[in-house]
Amino acid sequence: MARLQMGVFASGRGSNFLSILNAIDERRLDADIRILISNNPEAGALNSARGRNIPAGVINRADFPDRETFVREMFSVLRNHGADFIALAGYMKKIPDEVIHAFAGRIINIHPALLPAFGGKGMYGRFVHEAVVRAGCKVSGATVHLVDDQYDHGPIVAQRAIPIPDTDTPEDVAARVLRVEHQIYPETLQLFAEDKVRVRNGRTYIR
Ligand code: GRF
Repeated sequence: MARLQMGVFASGRGSNFLSILNAIDERRLDADIRILISNNPEAGALNSARGRNIPAGVINRADFPDRETFVREMFSVLRNHGADFIALAGYMKKIPDEVIHAFAGRIINIHPALLPAFGGKGMYGRFVHEAVVRAGCKVSGATVHLVDDQYDHGPIVAQRAIPIPDTDTPEDVAARVLRVEHQIYPETLQLFAEDKVRVRNGRTYIR
């Protein structure tokens, strides 16, 4: 059995999910994806999962009578599929605090900027790259961080920077950052698979 038994959450196009799948196929990442969860029935990641016979489903708050039933369903799907680690890959909803606490230290996210700059509520997708270009930044990059109960806030596990040429548009920056995301997310997951990540006083240490 692979060392990381993952649940992946994705809402959109799913290119990070694909990069994780490719890393597993190429044996750069010692992990199994036990379940792909989306809030969005149109998410590209759902198709990628189903195409590979990976269990995948939609869990959407609006489909449940109350929050409690919704959270219980999320827990039971994760448990029933044997997920003991969560990777958020372009998941656009806030994970319920109960789930974050139950998976503390075992739930990570990727953000398309160098946190703590350009993160927080409303800082997602093109809004991030537009803000970076507007600010005149000469570098941006990607951050993988542990998830806590604040947006884009938990301890940073990995970052990689890219230079921003003066002529870059937000779309150019987005494309450059995305290439780096596809490298560092599988690499960082492998650090967890190898149990190399420790957290002390809000800071991570990689053995
Ligand atoms: C990525 O830029 C990721 O950093 C952010 O959402 C985007 C998802 O892209 N959290 P994709 O769906 O993985 O292609």
